[in-house]
Amino acid sequence: QSSSLHKFKEILFSTMSSEELLNSLDSFSAREDDVFLVSYPKSGTHWFAKVIENIPNADITLTSPIELGDISKLEELKTYCKRRIIPTHLNYNMLPMDIKQKQCKIIYIIRNPKDTAVSLFHYYRDNPNLPGVETWAAFLELFLRGNVVYGSWFDHVLSWESHKNDKNILFIFYEEMKKDSSKSIKKITSFLDINVSDNEINQIAWKSSFREMKNNAAKENCDPNKTICVLTSNKNLVFRKGAVGDWINYFTSEQKRVFDELFTEKMKHSELARHFEDYS
Ligand code: A3P
Repeated sequence: QSSSLHKFKEILFSTMSSEELLNSLDSFSAREDDVFLVSYPKSGTHWFAKVIENIPNADITLTSPIELGDISKLEELKTYCKRRIIPTHLNYNMLPMDIKQKQCKIIYIIRNPKDTAVSLFHYYRDNPNLPGVETWAAFLELFLRGNVVYGSWFDHVLSWESHKNDKNILFIFYEEMKKDSSKSIKKITSFLDINVSDNEINQIAWKSSFREMKNNAAKENCDPNKTICVLTSNKNLVFRKGAVGDWINYFTSEQKRVFDELFTEKMKHSELARHFEDYS
């Protein structure tokens, strides 16, 4: 493994998440109105964050991920006065205790795992903060073994799915957002108890469209303190294709077979997994 990753509790993390910080996450004190934006990497975190940022009168601060940085992170998070929107790629088990105790609102974003794998493959290739990878085939093996940053997609989703009946957690799909963004945006605003008009929803959808976000990323300077991604503050690396079903351009039929076999085995009790029947 490259030195850009280290293992913590059997899971690979970026070295930008210090071991000391990971070890002290349980001392994080949550506020009742905190909102956590949770996802496995490459599931659409930047997109959903942009939606939330664009809700009129939301009066929020979007912070950098809770697990990014060193031990000073927990102090930094205390300095925000407004309602905090805190991104994270942590699995359920590693989520700080106080968030669970206070039943803070949590939005969990899910994307079909084949597209997620393809997206993460490109991130491994393009992002200097991730290990290099030679071929798609080699990367796919790492992905299937959970030998990638934040571990196995399957385990991540399953850890969250065991809490799918918790009222404070909203599960939302990348593919649904793509198909009908107004509907997904409405789900998010009503989950956050914020009133928005149809006109405002259209505005939010427009401002968070792929094209708009990609264009803006090219114009913005990268401010390392403003990142919502643990793995880079360079937003130009994020907006690649923004499509559903790009996996078809990468998976051979044998790779698809192996993937589907593992998917069926791992996700046999998963209700969330049924959502992906249309995308494989
Ligand atoms: P691709 O690599 O498939 O293009 P994250 O924000 O969690 O890092 O996820 C990044 C993925 O979400 C990338 O997928 C990126 O293009 C896609 N994405 C980002 N903004 C988007 C948008 N506004 N609409 C659709 N997809 C978007």
